[in-house]
Amino acid sequence: MSKVTVVGAGNVGATCANVLVCNQIADEVVLLDIKEGVSEGKAMDIMQTASILGTNTRLRGVTNDYAATEGSDMVVITSGIPRKPGMTREELIGVNAGIVRSVVDSVLKHSPEAIILCVSNPMDTMTYLIHKTSNLPKNRIIGMGGALDSARFRYFLATALECSYNEVEGIVIGGHGDTTMIPLKRYAAYRGIPAASLMPAEQLDKVAADTMVGGATLTKLLGTSAWYAPGAAAAQVVAAVLGDQKRMISCSALLEGEYGEKDLCIGVPCILGRNGIEKVVEFDLTDEEKALFAASAAAVHKTNAALA
Ligand code: NAI
Ligand code: 2OP
Repeated sequence: MSKVTVVGAGNVGATCANVLVCNQIADEVVLLDIKEGVSEGKAMDIMQTASILGTNTRLRGVTNDYAATEGSDMVVITSGIPRKPGMTREELIGVNAGIVRSVVDSVLKHSPEAIILCVSNPMDTMTYLIHKTSNLPKNRIIGMGGALDSARFRYFLATALECSYNEVEGIVIGGHGDTTMIPLKRYAAYRGIPAASLMPAEQLDKVAADTMVGGATLTKLLGTSAWYAPGAAAAQVVAAVLGDQKRMISCSALLEGEYGEKDLCIGVPCILGRNGIEKVVEFDLTDEEKALFAASAAAVHKTNAALA
């Protein structure tokens, strides 16, 4: 029996819970929020799709009742405030740090063995905060950003190539920020064929640039930050862990020398399995890519400094 708790029943949390249920990624899911009735209502609505979609996963909504989260294998943290148009992810730090810290304290009291997946922004900094305050081993704290950014990269790649979204490769590393993420153009491919050989350099540059502002573009259109792909990306990470899939997914991980960095969480290719982050994979980067990664790491360090 697998159990997942999703904290925050807002746009991203409820979407994540919905994907967990529809794709039967866990046997039991608890959706928790501080707003009275919201998680209960969303859980009931989602479960009323069960007999239509044929899922056997059970979802329950609760208001701030951490006892109901007891024994969770994984906890997804989406609680916090989202971006509004014109705001950066970094501007959310003060409010979200307080929320993330208290939520992690509460969930670990009831699920001391849980693997934590942090979604709340600024995500790399919130993931680092969890490392600093929880004393959990580093493999059990995962930040979700690269899974989403890589999905956006593949979306823009497949759109440019007019091909199937399922036949393109693309991975984004670095910080989960408009200027800090690094879509690795050299590793982008269509069925093993380098994307650089399939489109002009300016078009591939535009694919990468559109990826980097992918979140901001949606925030401007929607008036708040996106949720369908973020919720699905969080569920993808949960599936990789609970299913012991050994998939390589870009996640924010604590680095201790990998990529020449330490004492920060930032997006790197990770092998995900039942133990969480089982390995950080070190890609062979060019000098230019190394410089981009170092600059991204410096920006994340700077945001982390605001935690003090
Ligand atoms: P939202 O406002 O729709 O939902 C947030 C929910 O958290 C609300 O329902 C609120 O009541 C709840 N909440 C606040 N304090 C809480 C607490 N102490 N305990 C439990 N619940 C609490 O926001 P949305 O759009 O769902 O975004 C959530 C977070 O995820 C934001 O910080 C956003 O920036 C971030 N995000 C991160 C992404 C990523 O790739 N890492 C992608 C998209 C959003
Ligand atoms: C996103 O990338 C704002 O992190 C959020 O959509």
